[in-house]
Amino acid sequence: MSDLTELYRDVAVCRRCDLYKTATNPVPGEGPENAQIMFIGEGPGWNEDQLGRPFVGAAGKFLDQMFALIGLRRSDVYIANVVKHRPPNNRDPLPDEISACSHFLDRQIAITKPKIIVTLGRHSMARYFPNSAISKIHGTYFKKDGVVYFAMYHPAAALHQANLKYEIEQDMLKLPVILNELQAVPKPDPVENPTQLKMF
Ligand code: URA
Repeated sequence: MSDLTELYRDVAVCRRCDLYKTATNPVPGEGPENAQIMFIGEGPGWNEDQLGRPFVGAAGKFLDQMFALIGLRRSDVYIANVVKHRPPNNRDPLPDEISACSHFLDRQIAITKPKIIVTLGRHSMARYFPNSAISKIHGTYFKKDGVVYFAMYHPAAALHQANLKYEIEQDMLKLPVILNELQAVPKPDPVENPTQLKMF
């Protein structure tokens, strides 16, 4: 059994908080074990809870468009959430629920060893950028132990506020440039045409 499969089994039987009681399915996350980029959302919504897969509703459709913008497919990246069961009525996850679930995210990161971790929205941002305002730090990153931590708005924000769609697109376009820099292969001028960089 692969490490990720084992983790998914552990998520399915997790009772460390009460979210499993009201959820239909666990939503552990998905993506290849060698993904170079991990996106971390907040928690499953109604659609995700029904299907057991992350970002399959309206926000997920927008996220897929953002992947396409930089030449990525969903199957190229790892997609996780801060909590693995749906909070009832789509409420925010509680601090206790986030901390009860954080060891799963630690394991997902330890297994996949992504080069870039992209936080989507406030809750995953808080894990790496404590006491920050998303309106100030979206589109920025820091590097620690060889991993880049990059903050973005949650894709659902674009569904409610049209002006944020542009911000999210602009932030997304920075990812190929960052990944290219990380790979540190001598190339002509990587910043000249970021969307055409070969990433994988
Ligand atoms: N919003 C999230 O944060 N995660 C999902 O999986 C779906 C919507």
